[in-house]
Amino acid sequence: MNVQNAFSLNAEAYEQVNIIQKRVVDELLSRITDRPECLLDIGCGSGGVYRALKWQPACFVGMDFAEGMLSRHPKADNVTLLKRDFNTQDAFKDLDTFAFDRIISSSALQWADDLDAVLANIATLNAPVSLAIFTANTFKTLYQTANLPPLLRSKEETVRLLEKHFQGNIEVLEYTLTFSSVREMFRYMKQSGVGAGRNVLGYKAMKQLMQTYPLEYLEYEIVLMHEKG
Ligand SMILES: C[S@@+](CC[C@H](N)C(=O)[O-])C[C@H]1O[C@@H](n2cnc3c(N)ncnc32)[C@H](O)[C@@H]1O
Repeated sequence: MNVQNAFSLNAEAYEQVNIIQKRVVDELLSRITDRPECLLDIGCGSGGVYRALKWQPACFVGMDFAEGMLSRHPKADNVTLLKRDFNTQDAFKDLDTFAFDRIISSSALQWADDLDAVLANIATLNAPVSLAIFTANTFKTLYQTANLPPLLRSKEETVRLLEKHFQGNIEVLEYTLTFSSVREMFRYMKQSGVGAGRNVLGYKAMKQLMQTYPLEYLEYEIVLMHEKG
């Protein structure tokens, strides 16, 4: 395993939120060179993966449990959107009828309740995977400063589970996202929903965190697994 792509991005250079997720999608897709015809996108959201595809697949199946995200996903004859929770066995049970050429999941599987079980379900579909999963060093200094445990699984645990189920190449992506002020940084975090609803700090503790956070950037760590087709 090697650490690749330690990018430093400047938040102010972009208008939109979710800069990192977009970057991760581009990284993931750049490793897919064979233009697979039938794709499954797990945790497809509002279509980050679909919009970034450089080819038009004959069949694209997007799965997400959030209606609000699916309603913003591009619709087309080749697109099937399934409102399903990937934490349930049922989400996968009839998917083998599609005969996927590749399974993609970008910035979603870190929210798996039992990643081992979800990866086992994905493996039953017998298609090569391209998966990007955020890990515990995401917001590392922020959590340390706030005396909070990390929200996500460690890199080591994520890699262990990926290697248990798949045979692809593993890479670790590290990003920093720089802001002109800590206030800007916290505003961005609120907008982008990166804490996934984690709101464990009260007003006072949050104010103190803003005063003591020692960096002008946020840290992100993502494990990427890509299997050859
Ligand atoms: C950060 S977004 C990423 C969206 C898209 N893959 C992208 O990269 O632009 C994570 C997505 O995972 C979905 N998600 C989280 N937990 C899920 C679950 N248990 N089942 C299905 N979707 C889930 C969320 O609803 C959200 O749309």
